[in-house]
Amino acid sequence: MSAFEYAPALESTSIVNIADSYKLFINGKFVAPKSGKYFPTINPATGKVLAKIADANAKDVDLAVLAARNAYAKVWGKMPAAERGKYLYRIARILQERAREFAVLETLDNGKPIRESRDTDIPLVAAHFFYHAGWADKLQHAGLGDSPKPYGVVGQIIPWNFPMLMLAWKVAPALATGNTVVLKPAETTSLTALLFAEVCQQAGLPDGVVNIVTGAGATGSAIVNHPGIDKIAFTGSTEVGKLIATAIAGTKKSATLELGGKAANIIYDDAAIDEAVEGIVNGIFFNQGHVCCAGSRLLVQENIHDEVLEKLKIRMSHIRLGNPLDKNTDIGAINSAAQLAKIKELTAAGDSEGADRWSVPCEIPSEGFWFPPTIFTGVSQTHRIAREEIFGPVLSVLTFRTPQEAIEKANNTPFGLSAGVWTEKGSKILWTASKLRAGVIWANTFNKFDPASPFGGYKESGWGREGGRHGLSAYLKGSN
Ligand code: NAI
Ligand code: MG
Repeated sequence: MSAFEYAPALESTSIVNIADSYKLFINGKFVAPKSGKYFPTINPATGKVLAKIADANAKDVDLAVLAARNAYAKVWGKMPAAERGKYLYRIARILQERAREFAVLETLDNGKPIRESRDTDIPLVAAHFFYHAGWADKLQHAGLGDSPKPYGVVGQIIPWNFPMLMLAWKVAPALATGNTVVLKPAETTSLTALLFAEVCQQAGLPDGVVNIVTGAGATGSAIVNHPGIDKIAFTGSTEVGKLIATAIAGTKKSATLELGGKAANIIYDDAAIDEAVEGIVNGIFFNQGHVCCAGSRLLVQENIHDEVLEKLKIRMSHIRLGNPLDKNTDIGAINSAAQLAKIKELTAAGDSEGADRWSVPCEIPSEGFWFPPTIFTGVSQTHRIAREEIFGPVLSVLTFRTPQEAIEKANNTPFGLSAGVWTEKGSKILWTASKLRAGVIWANTFNKFDPASPFGGYKESGWGREGGRHGLSAYLKGSN
């Protein structure tokens, strides 16, 4: 077969207007940080600086918490629920209207392909606001008590892999349930959160209901330790999740923690192999593998191992890595130099522990941070690449002989966020799902998200659920 000719199809960046520097969003206004400090945010596909971002210190966080407290006590907490819902609908509609702007900005700041920010991230963001807008005036019918009450001021700390989507997962349920918010985006991806601050202004959201403070770990820690915060909602590494759990122990603060994962994607020998191969690719290479629920451990039944691997390599050879703004790109840039270093360190451990590496032969751009789609075969349970979250486009392949062995291997992990199962038998799906210790289990598909379905994990994958009716309870006192 001759190769298809390929012409790039670049998305224009003219729709976004990136300022030289960005202030904090406190009490409905953009204000200079008391710290007086700024840090750069870069485009990981080029390594070039996009803008300077305010670095909030404890004093800035204090002002944001005060604004959130006032807004809660004087406006938002007293507002009839149906009125709150109207603001959420308005935000959802504005997000849809400005979807292209958000998608392009997300791709520039994060490095993810425009195809994903445009078709997955931003549509899901709007869907989360629409879904929660509908709940605002129906909370007493959600089976969470007759008159469920918000916590008050919620501190929210989010990661860089789905910057706007994680903001939506946090902000939409918090506002729908009547809380006010101090949110910190990740330090490498603050730009869309700051554009969201503009959307709050555009929607006429009362001042102080949403406050956005930018900065790194120290800013996050100032939120976690602030006495005026009633609840913490965090998504990120298990390491920081543990720090937060320790910091709030002995306080009245409540927390939801959405942490790491090392999901098993189980392929039984009766599965539709071509479809399973698509699911394997989607499971680990979506968003460069920067996905907490990524299907990063492939468990394939031994008798179909060679066939699956052969087809997987052919399919992987068609993955296009490169400019995230190109509409044909499947794999964009790794989000940061630090993340690339972590991927390299763990894959080097894969080599030294004796697994076999295979990467797609592809051209790597000369600037920015990149890692080719990679699989390791001959992986054993004890290898670091089978146990630790790599958070990159790297798949570890293990085999099993019996369904029982698949379950034992799948559950032999400190995590328990998600899993996949591929078989043509419905009964086998149900049997497998009932034995897996994972919060989300996909059958004959992978990485499907819906605001109505709860998401969250067991063990070191975290505490609590986000999304659906379960996610509401995490923002209502005494109901979780
Ligand atoms: P991280 O957990 O350090 O960062 C997540 C958020 O927490 C960021 O907003 C960060 O500024 C903030 N933060 C950092 N230290 C903090 C502290 N002491 N107190 C409060 N907030 C703090 O994650 P990082 O360093 O960016 O990535 C490291 C690894 O974590 C990744 O390689 C990946 O394995 C995992 N990770 C998992 C995510 C998930 O969705 N499960 C998301 C991001 C990272
Ligand atoms: Mg960190």
